[in-house]
Amino acid sequence: MPSEEIIDPAATREDGAYDEQIRPQRLSDFPGQTPIKEKLAIAIEAAKQRSEPLDHLLLSGPPGLGKTTLARILANEMGVDIKQTSGPVIERQADLSAILTSLEAFDVLFIDEIHRLNHAVEETLYSAMEDFEVDIMLGKGPTARSMKIGLKPFTLVGATTRSGLLTPPLRARFGDTCRFEFYGPDELQAILLRAARIIGVEIEDDGALEIASRSRGTARVANRLLRRVRDFAQVKGDGVVTREAADAALDLLRIDALGLDDMDRAILRTIIEKFSGGPVGLSSLAVACGEERQTLEEVHEPFLIQIGFIKRTQQGRVATPRAYQHLGHTPPAAGQGGLF
Ligand SMILES: Nc1ncnc2c1ncn2[C@@H]1O[C@H](COP(=O)(O)OP(=O)(O)OP(=O)(O)O)[C@@H](O)[C@H]1O
Ligand SMILES: [Mg+2]
Repeated sequence: MPSEEIIDPAATREDGAYDEQIRPQRLSDFPGQTPIKEKLAIAIEAAKQRSEPLDHLLLSGPPGLGKTTLARILANEMGVDIKQTSGPVIERQADLSAILTSLEAFDVLFIDEIHRLNHAVEETLYSAMEDFEVDIMLGKGPTARSMKIGLKPFTLVGATTRSGLLTPPLRARFGDTCRFEFYGPDELQAILLRAARIIGVEIEDDGALEIASRSRGTARVANRLLRRVRDFAQVKGDGVVTREAADAALDLLRIDALGLDDMDRAILRTIIEKFSGGPVGLSSLAVACGEERQTLEEVHEPFLIQIGFIKRTQQGRVATPRAYQHLGHTPPAAGQGGLF
């Protein structure tokens, strides 16, 4: 497996069954994202007391932080069913109407990548969200007529990695937005200790912390690294995930102390050595690194920006002094080239 698939915050082909196994089922079993949990615990309690469905909710944030997991938890906590679909999958209004009319009272409809709904489908969603009604077309051609059908009150939970792409009318129909933040090392440590318990891996606290600090703030990456380290500990040690085992396993995967892989370092080195620290456009950078532009933009750049190694400017990407230091280069003195 290329290291890119290990650090990719999005789901990769081998995540499936493992993801299911370790997915938290309850709010109390979901480490981190404390402000979101506190807010939702109140909303859930209040909705239950009033015997009303939860307000429509938008979950936004980078991949792999737990949006899908939280949507399922909401349904569990409300004691209702959840139907899962995603923006690009719903091609026609009729597809959406079919899903909506199949919902029972208070059910959760989860639409992943909701920013990718097509316009016609999105418009159908407006009246469904606002008035719990859909227009259904009967017949075809000149004799076709539309009929309003009432829906049972439901909760729409939308997830998006690109909340900026949501249209204002859709955004306005959500009662609230929960913005997921990258996890801190302590939170990832808790996530890892929990996952290790579930899959039956013996792990020491500082072993978990070592993996946590190299997991790019992302739950999915942490869980994936755990499996790698477990394999290593089993083959090279006594099966216990100690700090030493984690350290050696991750070194072998060429994931450094901050969670950067070879391509992350190549990107920084390219900006610094070939483009004098930048600015450089994304396409030129991709060509110079021999990487696809999309992978660069979706896998590598968000994390390098998050840890303050790259800045995005009008003119292109720029390496910051911290990036120079991480690679053992001396940053240019202020005022001498570059933007710093
Ligand atoms: N707070 C958490 N505690 C424990 N495990 C978590 C947490 N958040 C996410 N996970 C785990 O990380 C993996 C990814 O989570 P999830 O699929 O919910 O992310 P997502 O935000 O929906 O990502 P995507 O944008 O790719 O759909 C799952 O295996 C899930 O169990
Ligand atoms: Mg998801």
